[in-house]
Amino acid sequence: MQFHILTLFPEMVLTGLNTSIIGRACEAGLLSVEAINIRDFTLDKHKKVDDYPYGGGAGMLMQAQPIYDAYLSVLEKMRTKQRPRVVYLTPQGQVFTQKLAEELAGEQDLILLCGHYEGIDERVLEEIVTDYVSIGDYVLTGGELPAMVMVDAVSRMVPGVLTNRESGETESFENGLLEYPQYTRPEEWKGKKVPSVLLSGHHKNIESWRKEESLRRTRERRPDLYRTYMERGEEK
Ligand code: ADE
Repeated sequence: MQFHILTLFPEMVLTGLNTSIIGRACEAGLLSVEAINIRDFTLDKHKKVDDYPYGGGAGMLMQAQPIYDAYLSVLEKMRTKQRPRVVYLTPQGQVFTQKLAEELAGEQDLILLCGHYEGIDERVLEEIVTDYVSIGDYVLTGGELPAMVMVDAVSRMVPGVLTNRESGETESFENGLLEYPQYTRPEEWKGKKVPSVLLSGHHKNIESWRKEESLRRTRERRPDLYRTYMERGEEK
């Protein structure tokens, strides 16, 4: 899968994504992450990419032309001629979820557009954006961190990116519940003992203990998820 990130801060996204599991997957050829510097496409002699909003108001807006030309440069390089999905990272988008990460992991190419300043000229958004995505109900200074969050979450859903040991079949959100608590050696630490069922070797009991803990944890920490889970159970 190929990620193409349109940004004014290419180093920021590349530094964050070239390490650990994502870096390893890039080296293995399962993924590629390129950052396209929008500023490289401005026709302005001072390399300006922003201007004042018509109608007045605070702050500057990113102009349409450099973004559109940066987008066209990605299309030219792509192997398929199908129109790619283009995600604009914005607090005005649908909130990013594990479900969307799984869906996007099926794309061959994904373009992520990072905004800065007070926003982007609406006309270029209308022209190229297919998905408006927010990573949560708070406002950041730019779309770079959200783009990195998305690349990370989508990448780990691409087959082969996680090893079997890393993939954790039962991890949080897999079945709409949070993951149960886990323990490793030693058996006792600061007077706290590992729950004895986990040392019993009795797989059925361990399984039902984990299910109970998952339910309890979800009910306590994420009552919203718990409610959805229970409603789905009733439907079934
Ligand atoms: N840009 C600024 N804040 C954002 C957010 N919460 N999600 C996505 N993009 C953003």
